[in-house]
Amino acid sequence: MYQFLVTSLENGTFTIVISRPDKLNALNKTVIAELSTAIDEVHSNPEIKSAIITGAGTKAFVAGADINEFLQLDSTQGEELSRRGQQLVFDKIENSPKPTVAAVNGFALGGGCELALACHFIYASENAKFGQPEVNLGLIPGYGGTQRLTQIIGRNRAMELLMSGNMITAKEAMEYGIVNKVVPSDELLARTKEILMTIQSRAPLAVSKVIECVNNFDHTQQGYDFEIKKFGECFATDDMKEGATAFLEKRKPKFAGK
Ligand code: COA
Repeated sequence: MYQFLVTSLENGTFTIVISRPDKLNALNKTVIAELSTAIDEVHSNPEIKSAIITGAGTKAFVAGADINEFLQLDSTQGEELSRRGQQLVFDKIENSPKPTVAAVNGFALGGGCELALACHFIYASENAKFGQPEVNLGLIPGYGGTQRLTQIIGRNRAMELLMSGNMITAKEAMEYGIVNKVVPSDELLARTKEILMTIQSRAPLAVSKVIECVNNFDHTQQGYDFEIKKFGECFATDDMKEGATAFLEKRKPKFAGK
């Protein structure tokens, strides 16, 4: 079905493997279009409860946008490339109602780093490397990198990474707060699936509302007001009644996602 993606569904977890190993899984137009379709499937297929995005092989997660597609673009087309990518893929991942985790198994550079940052959180293998090397190409990140990186690691660290184009190791990325866990390469997918199994056992509508609230993070009263609204909405769900009843009856809850 896909030229550059391999997808599989196991225990409700949909794994999307970006597979262009000869080009270190770089994001060309076709990969972006296929990722967009795969993310739509995550949103719409009720059998999918969560998603993992990873790269084929052990060398790269994604080594960036495909540099071969850059030279023929003018300024308007450059803007269009950035806007289309953000709307078709990165924003949809961030706003997915189902948890979406990046399993970073090697180089996550440029658009690859941005792809991981757009996911709800990141697990990485010990050999993973992160960076935004666009300035080496006379470019800046265009898939949300200047915004998400700054939000996640703060202004000064973001400035240094974005202006130097330097790479950081998985361990440094964990110290920065980019990565939640660093694990051996051969355990990466299993460990990512394990945390998703835990999340999938929780009330799905509550999990979706957590995603919405965190994405609406705001220093002002607006963020707190949004949480109040979402908290109230939980009381209209069967899952909340089931969760509270199960606790009081000292049994495990059975959530229906309603
Ligand atoms: N776009 C297009 N092709 C890419 C690519 C990208 N972002 N990243 C790697 N490739 C291709 C290389 O051109 C090479 O193709 P070839 O074998 O046809 O020549 C192949 O992938 C392997 O990469 P190579 O550079 O030979 O591997 P390496 O181990 O020497 O270096 C990297 C690995 C990741 C350090 C290096 O490939 C690199 O710097 N890539 C570009 C990273 C980048 O600038 N990303 C941001 C883009 S906006």
